[in-house]
Amino acid sequence: MNVGIIGSGAMGAGIAQVAAMAGHSVHIYDTAAPALQRAQSGLQTTLQKLEEKGKLPDAATVMNRFQFTGTLADLAPCHLVIEAIVENLDIKKKVFAELEAVVSAGCILATNTSSLSVTAIAAACRQPERVLGLHFFNPAPLMALVEVVPALQTREGLVPELMALMQQWGKMPVQTKDTPGFIVNRLARPFYGEAIRIYEEGIASPATLDWAMTTLGGFRMGPFTLMDYIGHDVNYVVTETVWTSFFYDPRYKPSFSQKRLLEAGWLGRKTGRGFYEYAEGTVLPEPVMDEALGRHLVDRIGAMLMNEAIEALHLGVASAADLEMAMTKGVNYPKGLLQWADDAGAARVLAVLDALYEEYGEDRYRASVLLRQKARNDERFLS
Ligand SMILES: NC(=O)c1ccc[n+]([C@@H]2O[C@H](COP(=O)([O-])OP(=O)(O)OC[C@H]3O[C@@H](n4cnc5c(N)ncnc54)[C@H](O)[C@@H]3O)[C@@H](O)[C@H]2O)c1
Repeated sequence: MNVGIIGSGAMGAGIAQVAAMAGHSVHIYDTAAPALQRAQSGLQTTLQKLEEKGKLPDAATVMNRFQFTGTLADLAPCHLVIEAIVENLDIKKKVFAELEAVVSAGCILATNTSSLSVTAIAAACRQPERVLGLHFFNPAPLMALVEVVPALQTREGLVPELMALMQQWGKMPVQTKDTPGFIVNRLARPFYGEAIRIYEEGIASPATLDWAMTTLGGFRMGPFTLMDYIGHDVNYVVTETVWTSFFYDPRYKPSFSQKRLLEAGWLGRKTGRGFYEYAEGTVLPEPVMDEALGRHLVDRIGAMLMNEAIEALHLGVASAADLEMAMTKGVNYPKGLLQWADDAGAARVLAVLDALYEEYGEDRYRASVLLRQKARNDERFLS
């Protein structure tokens, strides 16, 4: 099978590597010649390293499967094309329309968009029924999760076909509705947003919140360390996009403290400063290791996370199993959010949210109706 990749940046190159290692011929197209060259030398280095480590029998064989091109028409023999260009709806629509004039009628068209509507992209095509979302995570060769997103127009049968292909590529596919943030970028919002809210209120410092979420909550990285790692340019924009896409639902409201970091150019690790300073010799601030406070912080952020997953389940964004897989395998949460709710008990999670709602009077803390029902009937989310 011939696979086409449009855009040879971080994601395009990574997805191209996955496809080539799965045995496909891969045509990589980019409008920027330097980006193509970077991808080519980057892939060469990566495959070479894999061979040296004994993880790949022959780097040259895989390297020979690539064709790099600055001409879209070279994608004509592809059976599947995955687009990973700049996150801009108008540009993506234009590229998909041009692509359709090049490929055969049977070619499947996928977008790696993180935040745009797959349905809106499909609408730019003459055959929208062959379009779907394949949302990989960065770095694509290492992250197992792929969110498979049917557009409203996607033909029946395409999703199972692509789920099977992703499995063949060694990935863990989950199916999600075409709603903002899909699964991961939606369910993870409170991990950042509620942590920042607590910090802005002066209840706890970033160091204390990070300590609570890692040591008591079991997360690999605390929210502030993770935001500094992801970069505030990326993390803030995802939050803002999800918030506006949900018609300004206050649950996803961005924060001024993160917006100011972005404006200051304090993007996190990559610029040497974000919530923390990373200059040589800087000592990281000490957390307040108060167990009662720490438990309160984990309960509050946890309740917001669980509520988000429960609401997504209620609205049919994905199956319970896929919601759990996305957060545990995709972003390494210590346990699935529904499992966490079952372990804590729906009534207890609801009590935390209702107390917050009572205290603040903000819609942000409204409990999902499904949580309320489960608490009332003393039922679990997972069987
Ligand atoms: N970086 C991430 O963590 C991540 C994760 C998942 C999904 N995504 C999504 O993947 C897509 C690509 O992201 P990225 O981080 O790889 O971006 P990137 O900036 O690293 O790469 C984009 C590439 O697309 C090329 N390009 C731009 N316009 C083009 C056009 N009209 N035709 C052909 N090539 C064009 C650019 O030259 C560049 O090489 C975006 O939709 C993004 O939202 C990103």
